Amino acid sequence: SWEPAQFIPEAIAQIQREVGAGRALIALSGGVDSAVAAALAHEALGPRLSAILIDHGLMRAGEIEEVVRAFPTLDLHVINRADVFFDALKGVTDPEAKRKIIGREFIAAFEYAKRTAGHADVLIQGTVYPDVIESGGKNARTIKSHHNVGGLPEEVGFTIVEPLRWLFKDEVRNVGLALGMPQSIVWRQPFPGPGLAVRIVGEVTREKVEIVRQADAIVRQEIEARGLQRAIWQAFAVLLDVRSVGVMGDQRTYGYPIVVRAVQSDDGMTADWVRLDPDLLETLAHRIIGEVPNVNRVVYDVTSKPPGTIEWE
Ligand code: XMP
Repeated sequence: SWEPAQFIPEAIAQIQREVGAGRALIALSGGVDSAVAAALAHEALGPRLSAILIDHGLMRAGEIEEVVRAFPTLDLHVINRADVFFDALKGVTDPEAKRKIIGREFIAAFEYAKRTAGHADVLIQGTVYPDVIESGGKNARTIKSHHNVGGLPEEVGFTIVEPLRWLFKDEVRNVGLALGMPQSIVWRQPFPGPGLAVRIVGEVTREKVEIVRQADAIVRQEIEARGLQRAIWQAFAVLLDVRSVGVMGDQRTYGYPIVVRAVQSDDGMTADWVRLDPDLLETLAHRIIGEVPNVNRVVYDVTSKPPGTIEWE
């Protein structure tokens, strides 16, 4: 049977063999896969590993700080490119166009950042087995152009090392736990590479990112408070680009709706909507409307995948 205690020394030896006497670089995304790959590579290479975390301004609340805290001795460079991403996304409403722009700007940011992060010949990537299968299906119709840090293009000019290539998500988590990584990172739910941009239907603005970020933080807090974090594949908030009329106190409001979405899934390919407790839904509605400015309505998404996708864009 598969055991982290056996896998970890083998993976470390493999990284050391493939990097040789040189240096390596890793791009962290905030997700569990790249974090575990970084922890393994850091064990293997010590100061010969540098890491880049591109802050596109579309991360969840507290996410960057959590990653930085998880790697106190790693040579980690946080590159703030939020202005560039917001400029590039200005006026863009088409979901695929948004994804392509973010993918392109991510590569540009990486090209820029790698010069500041020390010369490296090897790029460590947190590719996991499901990524390998998914990108292998050449004839599969593209529903969404996925962007993630496991997907930097070859022209970047590195030798690629993928220590998690044969692992499933639960195995990656077990490796993270065995390496002593924080629970908050190991049990993090999947989060799309384009970040909160695909959770804002229509144009992305700083104001809208702030709204969906606050709503997302409330959803995560309440899910965690009930111990549902590990049982649910993903639970999150989506901001729509319509407004509706409401009333608060004796004032008419005209604000945005937040969609709460919670799904159960084994691999993200299909998903069921989760029958969340109505009391929890009520708490979410109450808190989101009370605490997040410009939101006056909360709705719950009862669509499974298919026919819906998990994300709204
Ligand atoms: P969909 O929305 O296609 O999502 O049903 C399936 C799973 O993939 C995640 N997702 C992404 N992950 N880069 C990623 O790394 C992306 O561009 C991306 N888009 C969606 C989504 O959160 C769900 O878990």
